[in-house]
Amino acid sequence: MDYEERITAAELGEGEERTERTLRPQTLDDYIGQKKATDNLKIFIEAAKLRGEPLDHVLFYGPPGLGKTTLAGIIANEMGVDIRITSGPAIERAGDLAAILTNLNENDVLFIDEIHRLNRSVEEVLYSAMEDFALDIIIGKGPSARSIRLDIAKFTLIGATTRAGSLSAPLRDRFGVSCKFEIYTPDELKKIIGRSANILDVCVDEESMDEMARRSRGTPRVANRMLKRVRDFSQVKSDGCIDIDITQQALEALGVDPMGLENLDREILRTIIERFKGGPVGIDTIAASIGEERVTIEDVYEPYLIQKGFLHRTPKGRVVSELAYKHLGISCGDDDQLTINISE
Ligand code: ADE
Repeated sequence: MDYEERITAAELGEGEERTERTLRPQTLDDYIGQKKATDNLKIFIEAAKLRGEPLDHVLFYGPPGLGKTTLAGIIANEMGVDIRITSGPAIERAGDLAAILTNLNENDVLFIDEIHRLNRSVEEVLYSAMEDFALDIIIGKGPSARSIRLDIAKFTLIGATTRAGSLSAPLRDRFGVSCKFEIYTPDELKKIIGRSANILDVCVDEESMDEMARRSRGTPRVANRMLKRVRDFSQVKSDGCIDIDITQQALEALGVDPMGLENLDREILRTIIERFKGGPVGIDTIAASIGEERVTIEDVYEPYLIQKGFLHRTPKGRVVSELAYKHLGISCGDDDQLTINISE
């Protein structure tokens, strides 16, 4: 099955944007989870509004699908300004960024997703824009080239990244606020599923919500997608109301196991166990063995496998845990060997 088609994919699939938008909360009060980030942001937003200034630049970092774009939209909404959404790879040249920046109104929010993928020349234009709300533009070429400074409206940059470590220090230092996005708890996911079920007008019982929350790998985007697929099953195979039988049946058909792992998660673990004796093995070797990109494994799969204790990152490479052997029903064999590997 394609990565984009997987129910547990944290990225948005084609055509999903419209339904996801209808499920997105519009205010901080409606936003569930990430309490540390939202409590602080509430204060910073209030203070910026009192001063009549834009909010300081904000960096969001953490795994995909945890609601960074949603929270950026809420910030703009709470500030009473417009938001312009783009991404690092979409801004190819410095001129593209200049065009975006000169079209912003006072205090607007510019959201740049995957900001770690901005190219160098674009990033350099961003420095003066963030610091001085000005663009340094070079006119002409060669010895007659000169630089002019163009003022732009004061704005808030919200940058989002799955890998804060890949951001250059000068860019990272220009953000006044930094928010780490955490994987959601099953309780938070249950609330999100309940809220979405209300909006979609689906009836679903408590037990089913618990089950879906537990299997959503800590990610609201996965939880919402799961709810919609289970709803499909309930409409075709039952009376349209979601109960635990239909939930379990649907999730099994979709290849999501009771711990929320799906085929590729299990393939990663099984590959390390069967081909590399449980590890340690380097991430590039794992990527080549299963035919996935290293960044996809690191950003999308690993955070959940590590959080659930199936996988450990060690200086010598990845090592699967005893829990992973148990979950896959594979005998651990030499327990001592495994202990040595993990502690190395
Ligand atoms: N839908 C997606 N993410 C959400 C969140 N954090 N809170 C409420 N609804 C959501």
